Amino acid sequence: MSQADKSLKQLAPKPVAESATTLATLMEPADANPMGNVHGGVIMKLVDQAAAAAAIRHSGRICVTVAVDRLDFFGPAHVGDMVTLKAAVNYTHRTSMEVGVRIDAETLREGHVRQIGTALLIFVALDDKCRPIEVPPVLAQSDEEQLRFRQAELRYRHRKELREKERALRTSSTN
Ligand SMILES: CC(C)(COP(=O)(O)OP(=O)(O)OC[C@H]1O[C@@H](n2cnc3c(N)ncnc32)[C@H](O)[C@@H]1OP(=O)(O)O)[C@@H](O)C(=O)NCCC(=O)NCCS
Repeated sequence: MSQADKSLKQLAPKPVAESATTLATLMEPADANPMGNVHGGVIMKLVDQAAAAAAIRHSGRICVTVAVDRLDFFGPAHVGDMVTLKAAVNYTHRTSMEVGVRIDAETLREGHVRQIGTALLIFVALDDKCRPIEVPPVLAQSDEEQLRFRQAELRYRHRKELREKERALRTSSTN
């Protein structure tokens, strides 16, 4: 296969399901405060890892976290809980991807699973020289995936507009 054929193949649309990633980790005493509540930062690291894996699966490239758009905690995780992160690409633009992450905690003895949070992160795919490189478009198939795609598209436009306005303010205040 020629290099051109390879890059065309890489840019063929990919279903959301191809990036789906699950990361499960048992919470230990070192992850928590003396009351047994897990530190938010421990969960944040797992969120970043799961989301990065989804972005790499989708793009087939090295990916860097460029922004955490939002991270909401609905409740705590405790020592002894199994925390499970489910990540998948919601939206792609040229070189960036928005990844959504669902955060669940399970009490293993009772098998009681509760959603404790959710997160949205932006990753950029990089080439071998660490420059942003195009990613395959994501193919949102189900109604739920299509809704997430459209919501993420709005957020992409909103973030870009905000960055441009902030840049313009900075330029005008230094002139
Ligand atoms: C990712 C990086 C290479 C992008 O460089 P850049 O000069 O901003 O490149 P561009 O302006 O061409 O933007 C590339 C993409 O990133 C997106 N982007 C850039 N800054 C962004 C931000 N703050 N939030 C969301 N998306 C952003 C752009 O929208 C663009 O996406 P698109 O191609 O899909 O439209 C650069 O910002 C970087 O290296 N950041 C640090 C990443 C890192 O080290 N992460 C680990 C932290 S521990």
